[in-house]
Amino acid sequence: HWLPIKSILAQPELIGTTVTAKGWLRSKRDSKAGISFLAIHDGSHFDALQSVVANTLTNYDTEVLPLSTGCAVAVTGELVASQGKGQTVEIQASQVEVIGGVDDPEAYPIAKKRHSFEYLRTQAHLRPRTNTFGAITRIRHVAAQAIHELFSREGFYWVNTPIITASDCEGAGELFRVSHLDWNNLPRKPDGSVDQSQDFFGDEAFLTVSGQLALESHCLAMSKVYSFGPTFRAENSHTSRHLAEFWMVEPEIAFADLNDNAELAERLLKHVIARVLDRCEVDMAFFEQRIDDTVISRLRNILDNAFERMTYTEAIAILERSKEQFEFPVRWGIDMASEHERYLAEKHVGRPVVVTDYPSDIKAFYMRLNDDGKTVAAMDVLAPGVGEIIGGSQREDRLDVLDSRMEPQLREDLWWYRDLRRYGSVPHAGFGLGFERLLAYLTGMDNVRDVIPFPRTPGHADF
Ligand code: 4AD
Ligand code: MG
Repeated sequence: HWLPIKSILAQPELIGTTVTAKGWLRSKRDSKAGISFLAIHDGSHFDALQSVVANTLTNYDTEVLPLSTGCAVAVTGELVASQGKGQTVEIQASQVEVIGGVDDPEAYPIAKKRHSFEYLRTQAHLRPRTNTFGAITRIRHVAAQAIHELFSREGFYWVNTPIITASDCEGAGELFRVSHLDWNNLPRKPDGSVDQSQDFFGDEAFLTVSGQLALESHCLAMSKVYSFGPTFRAENSHTSRHLAEFWMVEPEIAFADLNDNAELAERLLKHVIARVLDRCEVDMAFFEQRIDDTVISRLRNILDNAFERMTYTEAIAILERSKEQFEFPVRWGIDMASEHERYLAEKHVGRPVVVTDYPSDIKAFYMRLNDDGKTVAAMDVLAPGVGEIIGGSQREDRLDVLDSRMEPQLREDLWWYRDLRRYGSVPHAGFGLGFERLLAYLTGMDNVRDVIPFPRTPGHADF
């Protein structure tokens, strides 16, 4: 019976007993004295478990010596206190079983100790075996659990909104179309490429850009709901913050206004940060050491302070005072560029900042019009280093005002959305948190492509 490396490392009382660990070889060192040191990892913990293998083992020459990075092994032996630096225990192997060998050690794509993140993206099937991506995988899991935990505790229901939809929630025209194709008999154009002009069984359908509109229907029945799932944007952008497929967390609350929304965003972010700091201590220490040496203090600082808030109008005034340092012009009415957002969060506040009440012209039709007639009850949460991590709003709950912000065609298509304003409409609000941007913020990683298992960007959808 074998134990995860995490539980072996956590139980000093196992010293003196026989244990079995199974995993993949991270490194091997052979001493002249006929002893090999194997470090194996199994995903359960950042640290690899060291085992000491003597040449007295019957398969030492035939199987242990030829082992190379990436081989899968089971090691059994007595757990002893370790003299080695950076490790508390090690296995004195009495048996090493090779479960899966590496046929050509020279060709093993991640055999070298360090690779660039760009290179590792081309090896997405093997990169979870590296230190960094093991840690990312664990933190991603803990952050997701923390999100479900907070919502559950506050009485929210998780609603699974559709992936295939006819509506473009954000109206930004960044949709992927869904076609029904027969994989075994793909329609080919004369040049051999796949003809994707097929529709969704006679209708137009797309991959969702946001679950929000569908979620609102459940909000106006269940009061507090959220969705957490993949969303898709056909934006042909090559930045470190944009993916064609990303995960979004979207809560929607009834009998609530923009202030309730901002408070929920703050509680959610603080809860996730607290959980990750608490449950991923070793992984976070790695990110602090290797990626961003301020990441932990930055996160602690957030827990200790209330989020700063400012209106869009105030934000523009702040930016205007430093306008000479920006590439893009600053004036009331602009859709802030990334450099502006980052200036506000990084230079001006030094912590996440909630910017509210944006001009209606640059925001989606569903946001509630303020009494001034020119701004809407929108909010973005801007984080240092990343920029916008949350976008949300109070929703327009008055049918006549909503109609005035929809084109006739949209009114027709979203008849059911309008119904929600005809039958028991109430003030409600919600937001979308980009899960990968949150993870980049939590770990200090520069690029959202490196915090999702299989990044989808233009030119990268192969497996
Ligand atoms: O600001 P967005 O577009 O808002 C919405 O979609 C609303 N319907 C959400 C709601 O109110 N329920 O997107 C929300 C967040 C952004 O703040 C950003 O963090 C993330 O989603 N995001 C992306 N993340 C990675 N790659 C992309 N291409 C992203 N586009 C948006
Ligand atoms: Mg936005």
